[in-house]
Formats: sequence, C-alpha cells, structure tokens
Amino acid sequence: MYLEYWGLKKYPFDNVPDPDFFFMSKPHEEGLTRLLYAVERGKGCALLSGEVGAGKTTLDKVLLRKISKERYDIAMIANPCLETKEFLQDILYKLGITDAPESKVEILRILYKKLTDNLDQNKGTLLIIDEAQFIAESTLEEIRLLLNYQLSNRFLLTIFLMGQPELVDKVKAIKQLAQRVEISYFLRSFNFKETTDYIFFREKKAGLSKNVFSKQAIEIVFEHSNGIPRIINNLCDLALLVGSGEKKAMITYEVIKDIIDDGAVF
Ligand SMILES: Nc1ncnc2c1ncn2[C@@H]1O[C@H](COP(=O)(O)OP(=O)(O)OP(=O)(O)O)[C@@H](O)[C@H]1O
Ligand SMILES: [Mg+2]
Repeated sequence: MYLEYWGLKKYPFDNVPDPDFFFMSKPHEEGLTRLLYAVERGKGCALLSGEVGAGKTTLDKVLLRKISKERYDIAMIANPCLETKEFLQDILYKLGITDAPESKVEILRILYKKLTDNLDQNKGTLLIIDEAQFIAESTLEEIRLLLNYQLSNRFLLTIFLMGQPELVDKVKAIKQLAQRVEISYFLRSFNFKETTDYIFFREKKAGLSKNVFSKQAIEIVFEHSNGIPRIINNLCDLALLVGSGEKKAMITYEVIKDIIDDGAVF
C-alpha cells in the first residue's frame, strides 16, 4: 500500500515473529543468553516471562535458529491448552513419534525411551512450551514429574516455560516445580532509547535509507506503547499508511497523536 511512497522494499512494522527482523535489544540479548546457557548446560527447567507483546515468541524463533538440530531434538508446543494425556501425546508427536499410544503409562514409557535414545546418539532433548500461562495445573504437575527424568549428572529433558507474567504465579504456586526452575528471566519492554533504535532498525531492514519518524513522533510512540514492540509496530505501521495518504515528508508528532486520539491503536 505505502511501500512505493516511502521507498520501502518490505513492510517494516509487520507483527510477525520474523527472525530476519529481529532487533537484538538488551533484554532480548540477555533472555537469549540465559536460555542458550540452559540448553548447553542441560538444565532441567527455565522460565521466560514478559508482558503481552514484549517479544517472547519472537525470541523463541531466534533461539530455534541458534540451536543445532544435530545436537538437539526439539519439541515446540505453541498451544498448551490440552488435557494432560493429549499434552503428553503432543510432545511425542513433536519428537517424531506419530503413533502415540492411548495409555498414559505407555506414553511415558515411550517418551523415556526416546529421551535415552537421543542421549545414546549424543543428542539432548528440549521441550519449549509457549503461552505456558494457559497450562492447566494438572499438566504443570505432569511437567514437574518429567523433570524426574535425569541421570546422575544431567537432565534428560530441558523444559522451557514461556508466557505472560501470570505464569510466574502459577509456577510459584507449585513449590516443587518452582524450585526446579534453575534459570528465569523477565523480558522487560523497551526504554526510550531502545524504542528509537528499534524503529530505526526496522526501517533500515525494510529498505529505508533515511529515518522518517521525527523525534517527537517517537516520543509519543514510546509514551503510548510503553515500549511494547507489538504496540510500537501497530502505531508505526498505521502512521506510515496515514502519512503516505496525506503526502507527508516525515511522520510527525501530530500524525501519531491523531491516530492515538482516534482510538485506532489499543
Ligand atoms: N526483539 C524484537 N525484534 C523485532 N521484532 C520484535 C522484537 N520483539 C518483538 N517484536 C515484534 O513484536 C511482535 C510481538 O512480539 P511477540 O509475538 O514475540 O510477543 P509475545 O511476548 O510472544 O506476545 P504474547 O504475550 O501475546 O504471546 C512480533 O510480532 C514482532 O514483530
Ligand atoms: Mg507469544
């Protein structure tokens, strides 16, 4: 729609967790470092929490790119609102076992065998659960039990729980699980400087040679978004659309203010 007007190759503020558009902010870098450390050390459980739209799923995708598929077998669960048994079946499925049995005992036996087979082949196993704030308490209990799969010096399975801040309370409510979370991190939102750098980074990635957002425009974007990338994206994308329609040379404070006042970005 507005690509030609601004001289862009791509849409700079699309809300998709595209690793090619990944901006390595300080909090994202720290989160990534901790999660990679948990993988490499074969830790049992790591927890990444963060506000809605802060970039947890995006971080996930970047993490997946960084982990060697030759050294790790990875099960990624993006929708954990399943009954415990179905949840366990889903883990098997994601580890390549498509004919999961019906009985829970059998599922657990096959899972254990898969974990030890992986180890025999010098492979670690990683279970990543996104949107983990939706996991039922009974399933969280089962996850805790999975952490009993360990050898004398390492865990057979590394579990990442990723989700919104209420996940932390849910985990804390199960003491035996909370104590097994060895690595944890709260992915904070961007400060003003990071918001500015994020906008510049995205513009450049999308093919802009020169920034088109005024300083005052970025200030109000920051104020309205609280540094949450998804909201920054929504505001900036709409601003580029409106700006092109009004034949603006720059995105000014007024363009952003009008969008906010119209209630067009929540
Ligand atoms: N570090 C980053 N670099 C580039 N884009 C980012 C970054 N963090 C977040 N984003 C952008 O913000 C959008 C929202 O991020 P994401 O979906 O990862 O948030 P989330 O924390 O998983 O949100 P939710 O709690 O709703 O699941 C992404 O689609 C992505 O475009
Ligand atoms: Mg997400």
